Amino acid sequence: MDGYDGDLIENLGAAKMTIDNNHGVGYISLYELMPGLTAWIYNINFNKDLVIDMRFMEDRPYYFGYNVSGYQLQKFPEEVDYKKIQQGQNFVIISKPNSSSEFVIPKNISYKCCYIIINPKLLNESKVASKLKLVSDLAESFKLKGDSDPYRYFGNIDARIGTYADIVLKNKRTDITGRLITEGAILRMLGSQIEAHAHDSSTHNFKPALTKSKLSRITNIGEYILSNISEKISIDEISLHLRISPKKLQSGIRFLYGYSANEYLTRLRLEHSKELMHSTEMNISEICFAVGYQSKSYFSKIFLDTFGNTPSAYRKSYEDANLLYDISYRSLAEDSLTVKNVDEIINIAREFNPKFKITGSIIFHRNIFFQIIEGPKKEVLTLFKNICNDRRHKDIQVMWRGFKIKREFDEWAMATISDEGELEVVIQGNTKNLELSNVLGKLDRSAMESESLWRKVRNIIKLDANESAA
Ligand SMILES: Cc1cc2nc3c(=O)[nH]c(=O)nc-3n(C[C@H](O)[C@H](O)[C@H](O)COP(=O)(O)O)c2cc1C
Repeated sequence: MDGYDGDLIENLGAAKMTIDNNHGVGYISLYELMPGLTAWIYNINFNKDLVIDMRFMEDRPYYFGYNVSGYQLQKFPEEVDYKKIQQGQNFVIISKPNSSSEFVIPKNISYKCCYIIINPKLLNESKVASKLKLVSDLAESFKLKGDSDPYRYFGNIDARIGTYADIVLKNKRTDITGRLITEGAILRMLGSQIEAHAHDSSTHNFKPALTKSKLSRITNIGEYILSNISEKISIDEISLHLRISPKKLQSGIRFLYGYSANEYLTRLRLEHSKELMHSTEMNISEICFAVGYQSKSYFSKIFLDTFGNTPSAYRKSYEDANLLYDISYRSLAEDSLTVKNVDEIINIAREFNPKFKITGSIIFHRNIFFQIIEGPKKEVLTLFKNICNDRRHKDIQVMWRGFKIKREFDEWAMATISDEGELEVVIQGNTKNLELSNVLGKLDRSAMESESLWRKVRNIIKLDANESAA
């Protein structure tokens, strides 16, 4: 997407490019679920036809796709005419090795599409059973004749695939339960596409057995489990809590995530264990108990079966990678806090942060702090502990914590944005440009809101810095 002047946000395994300029408005996001399996999500309206020339190497990846809204055109290089891929149509494209496939996304339409790209060679290098099974399922289902023929399959309009693609597009949550929703929906979408390819007719009129409102209630199951994660949790308890019969709960979980309820529970425990490894200094035994396992060897075994690494090897691999850690939160200033105290806080931050390779940004607006701190994990956690114990503010709500590849505020020890006129510290931007009241007033403090907020913050600061340098 060179030349689109978008705003690229990268996190571990995911990237999002937002475009709001003369090329178009919307975003394109990318998830790497595992090496060899990536998903591209388009939710965008282009001002000019976009021509994409997808190059295929010897590996012959599979391109699965589904248009939730809008359509596109496709052709192989040796063809003259384009073929139209309809809204709601299941499609799979595999080109000749070392050749390409051309896609055209027309201008001025609301284009919402999920592509899933599979590289069987990379997947095959994995030792995880589920990935190897995917490779053999694909080989079985497609049985490509001759190594070098291009292959195109335009299937039926398929409501089931559409349900999953819709979940992927609408899910804005980036916490672990949110990630599982996206990952589950991508994998279920893929499974349904392979199945539909194999049995067009039998899946044609598939409808989920549960109503949309029940399905959406089931997507909340993650929060309930997480708040009791160190305990034994039975399916009966969950179904009582969600007011859904155990049978419907089982089939809803199967529909949404492709797992049985017990497998889903295990998956959530394991994802949470990863998060604890990322965000705390707890050792592996402590983490094992904290996520509800009594036996460390059992915990290590299922972690290995699921992710292809033992917990300690997993922890070592990302610690060796020296990734950046980032926490963003909001809090309320103590009633007695004066603008002078805010000046002091920011001066301390600007003095100490560079010593610990910490950068970030803080917003002070109507007695509310919004802060992002980024840097080496240990230093960020130590500082955050200090900040949490600081009596000058209260009601601290973490909006996002986790690893990322790049700093957002690389030149700022603590960039500050405020419209409190009496502050003496140097202000980098004005809150008027941020629609802060809008963001702060919302009760739903989802991480996506904070992501778009920080993106705006960073842009305002960069713009200001460029203007003052000019
Ligand atoms: C909203 C808020 C943000 C803060 N941000 C930082 C910061 O970025 N860096 C920093 O060193 N201290 C920051 N502090 C101050 C710390 O809480 C703490 O006072 C400081 O790190 C000095 O620690 P010490 O008292 O243990 O020496 C902040 C405090 C508040 C209330």
